[in-house]
Amino acid sequence: MDLIAIASDHGGFSLKVDIVSFLKELGYEVNDMGPKNQNSVDYPDYGIRIAQAVTQNTDSRGIVICGTGIGMSIVVNRFPGIRGTLCSDLYTAKLCRGHNDSNILIMGGRVVGHGLAREIVKVWLSTPFDGGRHQKRLDKINQFDKSNKI
Ligand code: RB5
Repeated sequence: MDLIAIASDHGGFSLKVDIVSFLKELGYEVNDMGPKNQNSVDYPDYGIRIAQAVTQNTDSRGIVICGTGIGMSIVVNRFPGIRGTLCSDLYTAKLCRGHNDSNILIMGGRVVGHGLAREIVKVWLSTPFDGGRHQKRLDKINQFDKSNKI
């Protein structure tokens, strides 16, 4: 996984700019899906873009940022196969990879500072999925997506 799609709304814009340069410093290929400036926009338009990009390329991962992270959480987790995880601390960033195989990292640009956000991104990118009993649980979610019953 070397490709990361990223987007925000106006509430997450300044953090997105910082995280894009951080990802490039780390050597990742970054697909910045907008917005291009801090003007007011609607978070669903940008969350949907990232959820679709990650759904279409299961080798990629996504990062979405709005003011609180809540709007983006609601949007991206409507897509089957998307496991979007809202992180404001390093413990959650680590466990959402190990236990939940998170494929979209969600942050609140008005909640976390840029320094902490960079650390969250680093931990989220470097922590592998643990599999085992956690895979069995993800299988149940996937099964539900297919049939609407467990
Ligand atoms: C925008 O003001 C704000 O509502 C948005 O960034 C986000 O926090 C929504 O959940």
